[in-house]
Amino acid sequence: MTSSGRWPSFPDRPRSGSTVQVSDAPGAPASICRTGPDPASAGHRLTGVSSARSHPHGSHAAARDHCLSPARAVDRPTGPSRYGRMFPGLDPLDTDPGLLMSAGDTGGICDSAAVLDGLGRGDDATEAAGWPFFGQLIAHDITADRSPIATGGVDPEALRNARAPKLDLEMLYSDGPVGSPFLFDLGDPAKFLLGPDGGDVPRNQQGVALIGDPRNDVHLFALTLHIALLHAHNRIVALLRADGVSEADVFDQARTVLTWHYQWIAVHDFLPRLVGATLVEQVLAEGGRWFAPSPLQAYIPLEFADAAYRYGHGQIRHTYRLVDDGPAVPLFPDLVGFGPLPADRRLDLTQVFDVPGRPPAQRAKRLDGRLAASLIGLPEQVTGAVAAAAYRSLAVRDLLRGDTTGLPSGEAVARLIGVTPLTADEIEPSWPGGTPLWFYVLKEAEHRGGGDRLGPVGGRIVAEVLIGLLRADPTSYLSLQPDWEPDLPAAGPGFGLADLLTLGIYSDRAAGRT
Ligand code: HEM
Repeated sequence: MTSSGRWPSFPDRPRSGSTVQVSDAPGAPASICRTGPDPASAGHRLTGVSSARSHPHGSHAAARDHCLSPARAVDRPTGPSRYGRMFPGLDPLDTDPGLLMSAGDTGGICDSAAVLDGLGRGDDATEAAGWPFFGQLIAHDITADRSPIATGGVDPEALRNARAPKLDLEMLYSDGPVGSPFLFDLGDPAKFLLGPDGGDVPRNQQGVALIGDPRNDVHLFALTLHIALLHAHNRIVALLRADGVSEADVFDQARTVLTWHYQWIAVHDFLPRLVGATLVEQVLAEGGRWFAPSPLQAYIPLEFADAAYRYGHGQIRHTYRLVDDGPAVPLFPDLVGFGPLPADRRLDLTQVFDVPGRPPAQRAKRLDGRLAASLIGLPEQVTGAVAAAAYRSLAVRDLLRGDTTGLPSGEAVARLIGVTPLTADEIEPSWPGGTPLWFYVLKEAEHRGGGDRLGPVGGRIVAEVLIGLLRADPTSYLSLQPDWEPDLPAAGPGFGLADLLTLGIYSDRAAGRT
């Protein structure tokens, strides 16, 4: 590659790879061009898998707790570590916790029977099955509330977000090669370290993933996306070196290249599918009406973290096929993570993302207010020991979180933002005093988004928060070069998530590197 100058100017990152110093002056231009992986190769299968038998992945006896902690973590002492509100003027809904628990627990209105979630049983959404998992990675990038689940009110002021509220791939890079050296290759610290065959992340001698956020090891899908992004970074390092970028700059530039592509995909590929292109364009053009934090003043609104952005729980299927003609495998317990990933239990990404030249991928589950059986009975590896059996249900947790943080009803938000609330028939069964925001967002997607997209309330919250976070981040592409477009190789006419996820994997395998 040549230094074409087509690449944007990026703010310098501290060489240590530690937290970005936003006072840095813009500079350090990099260039990269559409060379590297053969776009035609993007249709290849990633790995071969044939067996659906049980496996050691996730079979540890020791349960570890990834969503709870005995004490609230105070990892970041300043403003961005706090949660806030988008609609501070609205009253909390205040629903009886017993009602929430029975609605979310086994047999309740949020429980979708496993039989409905089998492949080809009519609950397919339009979008491919991989999209919610990309959404989950974004969640892991920007929000981590480690407070214990409970009934009763919590003081939102006391909650702490263990992630920076930025789409900066913190779950990949953590504190960079200097601050988190265990993530990187000792022989080539600009590159991430991978597992022995490149198909897993590195792990310690007890099987614990050495990655920036343990939640990306929760199941095969999050882990596979994480690994794909590690490969993509390593491939970008190789492309930049071929383009003459100095060793002193190559890590920082590769990090920015990957991060900007990820951010661009969030705005131009992910969000339009989820909330519709019209709303995305409107928020980009006019800014957020309800969430528009100033630069460096970003925070995660509770309406987002504890309701609207949990929409993705409703898109998860109970079973997935991992390879061509493979069996439908239940997500839990079969595909739970937190342990070494065996070579015979890998995911071919083209089974969950549409890739040119390959058959259509499986679809996500339609949004309809119900969660798949795998999520109504979460494994102990995910929840840790629970005080009440109902806390195994993710629907119970979603409903209780919204209650304990005092979220308003979905109807109240709809009225505030000027849209007609769902009718009682659409909500069915109706809730006393109003519908919990999380459940409302799911039912709104069913009735106003065809089961594929979020409706006006959910879509407005999600679009304004994700775009608002990017606007408040002075290093994002949206702040520095809003017209910037991806310049990495694409298999089709436009760049998309599948191109990024397959970038490093195909090229590295083709070259005999892993
Ligand atoms: C198999 C897939 C998934 C599993 C097993 C899972 C599991 C969990 C668990 C256990 C929690 C903590 C619950 C609590 O105590 O409040 C959680 C929180 C959350 N999940 Fe998921 N999730 C999945 C997919 C998704 C998807 C697809 C999205 C969005 C697209 C998503 C968004 C969120 C958000 C925003 C939170 C709150 C995070 C925080 O603020 O700390 N999840 N999830």
